[in-house]
Amino acid sequence: MKIALILGTRPEIIKMSPLIRELDKRNLDYFILHTGQHYDYEMDREFFEELDLPEPKYNLSVGRNEYRKQIGLMVQEISKILIKEKPDIAFVQGDTNSVLAGALAANKTGIKIAHHEAGLRSHDLSMLEETNRIITDHISDYLFAPTKNAVKNLKEEGLGKEKIFLTGNTIVDAIYQNIQLASKKNDILKKLYLKKGNYILVTAHRAENVDIRERLEGVLEGIALVGQYLKMPAIYPLHPRTSNNIKKFKLKIKPEIKIIEPLGYLEFLQLEANSKLIITDSGGLQEEASILKVPCVTVRDNTERPETIEAGINILAGAKPKKILKSAKLILKKQKNWPNLFGDGHAAEKILDKTEALFKKRKDKIRLI
Ligand code: UD1
Ligand code: UDP
Repeated sequence: MKIALILGTRPEIIKMSPLIRELDKRNLDYFILHTGQHYDYEMDREFFEELDLPEPKYNLSVGRNEYRKQIGLMVQEISKILIKEKPDIAFVQGDTNSVLAGALAANKTGIKIAHHEAGLRSHDLSMLEETNRIITDHISDYLFAPTKNAVKNLKEEGLGKEKIFLTGNTIVDAIYQNIQLASKKNDILKKLYLKKGNYILVTAHRAENVDIRERLEGVLEGIALVGQYLKMPAIYPLHPRTSNNIKKFKLKIKPEIKIIEPLGYLEFLQLEANSKLIITDSGGLQEEASILKVPCVTVRDNTERPETIEAGINILAGAKPKKILKSAKLILKKQKNWPNLFGDGHAAEKILDKTEALFKKRKDKIRLI
């Protein structure tokens, strides 16, 4: 069995890392195809280095192109590589443009597609990620769903239950594998003059927030209000999309918000685990907040991770300053239940157990014919 791992952005590198380690452990044949959607050192290479991941065999470097050109180029170039390499299965993870392009290319070259993090739905078709999820799930052969809710979404859309597998999310594996290493990097708190439990951690980069001036202003104002209320700084490692838009809209940053460069995973985990509160619009952070037991305010109108809201760990706050402050007060007071929402840290093993078993079954069938 030969596997193509297709990835392109920061969260895909992090969430694929446990799978890569497990593939190495099992001595399976695979190669990494990087679309180059993310390309700055601190959005890309830094993660390969600190997580000790092998070099991608291919890098398409298509990140600097606008959406339509990017998707077109990705599909064209991924297809060429898949035709040349002839893998049995292409793995994609999540909901980015790289995932959609990888799945489309595999579908059109007759290669089986395995989708990790299948079945997430925000039910908001104005998000590019939602269309990426739906299309990818519907053309995939193996759907690795992280939660029962994700399994339910897939079944409700009529996808065959024989291809749906509940595995948990590899983000839990990634945290468990790296949290010890991260605790040795505790100088990040010292470096930023922070004390455990005495700061807010922020990330916000979603197009539907930061590409719209009023929403970005509202989010920044809301973060500052929470900082004033808690008398704590809000540490904000800035995603390039947000950084570009703050410059473009000429926005002023209030003194409660401390802007820093994006961090590597180990330092970032350390900041997350020791924060009082997380304010975010990131999908991965909603999961990590629940795993690390830190209350979370999500500055969005909806989420594809509703389990976190039901458990009282996360709250939807939209992008209006007063609602963000009100939501922060509420979530900090709320009685929280910290169940294991995203699995037990063995998702990568479960995914590869299933993949190997399915592949063997297919081969046996071919032999019989
Ligand atoms: C993408 C995903 C989003 C995911 C996020 C993770 C899509 C539709 N969106 O959003 O779901 O949450 O990645 O972070 O796929 N840029 C740089 N340097 C980089 C990366 C990006 O300057 O290393 C710039 C790009 O040139 C572009 C902007 O940031 O102008 C946005 O990048 P893009 O990859 O299109 O989308 P993200 O917002 O990163
Ligand atoms: N992350 C990181 N450094 C940062 C910000 C985030 O390592 O400065 C990690 C974070 O721990 C999580 C992932 O990046 O695992 C989330 O990526 P992002 O928010 O870009 O994407 P999303 O999850 O929204 O798709």
